[in-house]
Amino acid sequence: MSFRKQVYPFAVVLLLVFSCQSGSKLENVPVNQIKNQLKLLARNYNDTKALMNIQGQEVVTIRSLNSDGSLKLIPSKDWCSGFYAGSLWLAARLSGDAALEKLAREFTIPLEQEKYNGDTHDMGFKMMCSFGQGYRLTNDTAYRDILIQSAKTLTTRFNEKVGAFRSWDHNKDKWHFPVIIDNMMNLELLFWASKQTGDQLYYNIAVKHAETTLANHFRADNSSYHVVDYDTLTGAVIQKNTHQGYSDSSAWARGQAWGLYGYTMCYRESGIISFLYQAEKIADFILHHPNLPSDKIPYWDFDAPATPSRPRDVSAAAITASALYELAQFIPKKKDFYIQSAEHILKSLKSDYLSKPGENKGFLLGHSTGSFPQNSEIDVPINYADYYYLEALERQINFKKLK
Ligand code: GLY
Repeated sequence: MSFRKQVYPFAVVLLLVFSCQSGSKLENVPVNQIKNQLKLLARNYNDTKALMNIQGQEVVTIRSLNSDGSLKLIPSKDWCSGFYAGSLWLAARLSGDAALEKLAREFTIPLEQEKYNGDTHDMGFKMMCSFGQGYRLTNDTAYRDILIQSAKTLTTRFNEKVGAFRSWDHNKDKWHFPVIIDNMMNLELLFWASKQTGDQLYYNIAVKHAETTLANHFRADNSSYHVVDYDTLTGAVIQKNTHQGYSDSSAWARGQAWGLYGYTMCYRESGIISFLYQAEKIADFILHHPNLPSDKIPYWDFDAPATPSRPRDVSAAAITASALYELAQFIPKKKDFYIQSAEHILKSLKSDYLSKPGENKGFLLGHSTGSFPQNSEIDVPINYADYYYLEALERQINFKKLK
């Protein structure tokens, strides 16, 4: 009998027993709505894809909504290609719904070719959220092999002189060797591969990248630059600026969330205390910021001008909530504050940002901002907001189980 067959039903029964016993403890988890919305997204995907296939476009999954309200579909190379599959895996785990698990497999498999794509740093986002979540649920060794090859491919982007991974290959006229704060998220794949294979190289270069980022990305107030550009001959910093933030010196909301999540995860994987201190400092920056609205859903940039139309970024809030549940375990003296903050975010998301049944083509949450300066995906549903929302709900459930 496979691991999945032995353990998965047990996990589902545990969750159901827990749900029945605790009742109100799951009040923030709209399980049926999540299941129905994600299934609706899959149906809408099939309808839209049929049209796009006619136009000869190679698409494999869902990312967001276009400005005309239609579904935005993407190929596997898009950095967001793993999140819908990941949401399906998380929702299957949460609900025990076999149809969701079947959909999760269907949206995961077409991403396999990305294991050889060394053109971006986004391997972790694409593969850990899809195959990684799938492996966690099913223990399917084929998924494990795909993840190990993905980690191997990612190592090709590490530069010894800089001590970091090159994030982007685009805009070569602007940056020499750009490293973005988002890149912290892709280190989790390397820590995982190190444990799976016993190869210390993955661990060493993940730690080195986190150390280099710690040295150069952060300002005195513990906010971070979005992009730091390096000279590969000397390893020196050439410039610090932004791509998706309001200005070079501003605090782009999702960047702060990636940093918080990234350093919390790096501490979990390495035990290096400076990573934990940095995560704590970032949490303090976010949660005590005077421009954080009272519902704790940030505007797209903490320094964006206070215009009436200033959009929020729900994705930054979802990532922050998920990270805070983990950080709370590591800092006992601030545990209550972090948990209360995470709960506050989840409550706000459920009451004011969750799609009504059938709304937003099936996305769970509205009101994320992809890239304001590029006028791209402003105040819309985006798949990574849904993914980190589901992960935060899972972490909330696990936290309450331990209480
Ligand atoms: N990694 C790109 C973003 O957060 O938009």
